[in-house]
Amino acid sequence: MKDSVRGLSNPAAESAYHLRQVSLHGRACAGLACFAARNDAPQRWLQAHGNTPPLVCLGQCYSAPAASGDDQPLHIECRARQPVLLSHLLRGGARSLQRYTELGGGQALQIALTSVPAALIAQIEASGLRGRGGAGFPTGRKWRAVAAADSAHRYVVANADEGDAGSFSDRFLLEDDPFRLIEGMIIAGLAVGASQGYLYLRKEYPDARAIVSRALAEARSAGWLGPSVLGSGRRFELSLVEGQGSYVCGEETALLNSIEQRRPEVRPRPPQITEFGLYGRPTLVNNVETLCAVPWIITHGPAAYAAMGDADSRGTKLLSLNSLFRHPGLYEIEFGMPLRTVVDTLGGGLRRGNLLGVMVGGPLAGLVPPDLLDTPFEHTALESIGCSVGHGGIIAFSDDTRVAEIVAEVFRFGAGESCGKCTPCHLGSPELARLAREVVEGGQINRQRWQALIAALQYTSLCGFGRGLAEFALAIERHYPHWLD
Ligand SMILES: Cc1cc2nc3c(=O)[nH]c(=O)nc-3n(C[C@H](O)[C@H](O)[C@H](O)COP(=O)(O)O)c2cc1C
Ligand code: SF4
Repeated sequence: MKDSVRGLSNPAAESAYHLRQVSLHGRACAGLACFAARNDAPQRWLQAHGNTPPLVCLGQCYSAPAASGDDQPLHIECRARQPVLLSHLLRGGARSLQRYTELGGGQALQIALTSVPAALIAQIEASGLRGRGGAGFPTGRKWRAVAAADSAHRYVVANADEGDAGSFSDRFLLEDDPFRLIEGMIIAGLAVGASQGYLYLRKEYPDARAIVSRALAEARSAGWLGPSVLGSGRRFELSLVEGQGSYVCGEETALLNSIEQRRPEVRPRPPQITEFGLYGRPTLVNNVETLCAVPWIITHGPAAYAAMGDADSRGTKLLSLNSLFRHPGLYEIEFGMPLRTVVDTLGGGLRRGNLLGVMVGGPLAGLVPPDLLDTPFEHTALESIGCSVGHGGIIAFSDDTRVAEIVAEVFRFGAGESCGKCTPCHLGSPELARLAREVVEGGQINRQRWQALIAALQYTSLCGFGRGLAEFALAIERHYPHWLD
């Protein structure tokens, strides 16, 4: 296939960028964790709501309501049999390559350079690793599809857009362990036959950007990146791309458009990006946390990884606990831990009020009510109650918030972030936001109209954003049937 570098010469592309000129400094965050904690600092929340465009989210949900430049120390803890993702963070972080290798980093790359690609893919398949970006797709299967696609060029992309309000795990991996991601990306490139990678990083993480830029320069001068990775004769280059401040930029096809400097809107599928992705080439897109698990799996073997976790959710997962918990912070758990243990033991319960519910996995997942807290944190069990693992953000809401207010806030977010490509989401989400607002203000709305709009979103949206908003609303109806009353 011929190279098709689309969009780079498009003079309109520059104006399509969101927030290009907007400084983040001092701006308050309008994310859902900040909404949950708004009564702790009402002025700051009002300021966040007044921002145009709104800033969502800074990844400081453990000290919400948050503002840029006003970060607090983070509590980090591992409750898995073995720390896969937090080992370096628990020992102070590894921002230099020397520190990273002192802590054992780089061994997986040495193994990968002497392995055939098929063996690397087989190891990832055997580990049972599933994507941590939200959809939980089997990682090995995706790698195999990209490797098998017929093309002379392929790309690897790390999705560091971390758009789910309530999640800050990628931010800390990027800031305190950047070489783990770089190592994971090089190994992915060797496995699928890609010699160029892109790291797509959300604009709301300026510290991560500076740290990752320095790490990339160091990796380049140490020979990890370049025309011959560690003298192996195998090429891998890695470029950092700054995100454009829109939630939908995290959706993988919109993300690829954004890298190509096109308007960041969703592409219809098929074709799948594993065949026709960035610049029309087969492309592997994986989340930061997914890629960060790769070096551990290659070093310790897939069986050790698969021995942790539960059923079809293997290994460990990072959970981000918001500021309403007594012990907010970043936790690594094995899949299968009951949500009650997450809430009561890890989080220490709420620091004020009674629990209304926990939003698990971001705004496109559901709200789990207190009587379902025995549900294990793993894909199948959460899906059976209409919720999902998502990206592991756990936002507790106390009873100073009403369910209708959460619904209104989620749809306000949805209306603001819709990319506008398809009608049910573009026109439906603002209308749903308006209806939910009416409920908050004590009005009666037409339940049938609400349900018809939700059904249109669920069945006819082009991407997971519209469908996710519908699934959120359906989970609310199921677990809080009186929310409209
Ligand atoms: C609206 C929307 C937003 C998304 N945002 C992110 C994101 O911020 N980070 C992420 O890794 N995946 C995000 N995803 C999922 C990606 O499209 C993709 O499935 C993921 O990056 C693949 O990596 P994984 O297989 O390692 O999970 C989003 C999906 C949708 C529909
Ligand atoms: S569902 Fe929403 S975000 Fe997705 S393509 Fe349609 S308008 Fe864009």
